[in-house]
Amino acid sequence: MAGLGTVGASLLQLLARRRLPLAERCGREIQVTAVSARDRTRQRGVALDGLAWLDDPTTLADRADVDCVVELIGGSEGAARATVEAALAAGKHVVTANKALLAHHGVALAEAAEARGVALAFEASVAGGIPVLKALRESLAGNAIERIHGILNGTCNYILSRMEADGLAFDVCLADAQRLGYAEADPTFDIEGFDTAHKLAILTSLAFGTRVDAEAVHVEGISSITPLDIRMANELGYRIKLLGVAERTRAGIEQRVHPTMVSKATALAQVMGVTNAVSIDADAVDELTLVGPGAGGEATASSVVADLADVARGAFGAPFGVPVAELAPLLRAPMQRHEGGYYVR
Ligand code: NDP
Ligand code: HSE
Repeated sequence: MAGLGTVGASLLQLLARRRLPLAERCGREIQVTAVSARDRTRQRGVALDGLAWLDDPTTLADRADVDCVVELIGGSEGAARATVEAALAAGKHVVTANKALLAHHGVALAEAAEARGVALAFEASVAGGIPVLKALRESLAGNAIERIHGILNGTCNYILSRMEADGLAFDVCLADAQRLGYAEADPTFDIEGFDTAHKLAILTSLAFGTRVDAEAVHVEGISSITPLDIRMANELGYRIKLLGVAERTRAGIEQRVHPTMVSKATALAQVMGVTNAVSIDADAVDELTLVGPGAGGEATASSVVADLADVARGAFGAPFGVPVAELAPLLRAPMQRHEGGYYVR
């Protein structure tokens, strides 16, 4: 395991708690043998006895007692990228919760995994504990998907919910989200919409069979939303939500992230706090919405464990559902400007 922060520490706890049922389900035990983080002296609330400590997470790839590297450091470059690249190059399976890494380097990493016949699994990277990538890759394989949209950032939904419910200032709500372990190490990624854009780019790839392309997402965040905006929206019968939207248009796939006025009469408007919701419009199932915890250590660790169980059982396929060579290049639809803002009635 590389990274022992909010998600990493929860993962250690969850694996210990579910050790026997997981061993029964997988036919083999999932054992943590070596860990890496920056500060060896930090109290993490988890026992690290018996585990090898590595100052350099890329050296996990060199160990004979490691056949799967779990990357929970974060960030699209630096130690996280180096750790995942080293692991794949050494023929180790990789499980990660890192949407920034996948959104920017997903194609190259998937190619590396396919070349070595190992897993690159990232269920936890989108919508925390909601199994939406599995749903797109497996359960909805028989559907043509037209649109996917939803609340994909727990921190932003938490901030907007608390501003409305408790009349608190933006900064106070953000500080609470950080304290609760929901926010990214640099919360600019949350509040400026980039984290939602990373998740949307991954969803788009799986939903439409295109190469993941984070640069193609139009991004607006919530940092300029004021309590007055929220009150005015409320009086008009709306809630402000940060939505990620990807849809097929005649000109290609449009991907956008922006604050949206959502009618209080809709189910999406009822999604409050750290909860996420992902709605998928598809031909066979019509509309399907998955709702659940979008951030937080335990919920995210739940998705990491699901990937680990797949790896342990040998039940994994191409990271983006089909081999990279079969993914279409993303045809970017020009962004449609919506005068006066965005609404969901
Ligand atoms: P944290 O910031 O809580 O933890 C990051 C961990 O990485 C820390 O243990 C830190 O060490 C370690 N680390 C940082 N740099 C290095 C390095 N150079 N070498 C070794 N270890 C390093 O992050 P989270 O647990 O919140 O997030 C981890 C990943 O999961 C990110 O990709 C994030 O986007 C993703 N994610 C997070 C969710 C959440 O709710 N928090 C939900 C879904 C995904 P130290 O502790 O010593 O500082
Ligand atoms: N910072 C992210 C969020 C973590 O708030 O949604 C989950 O991906």
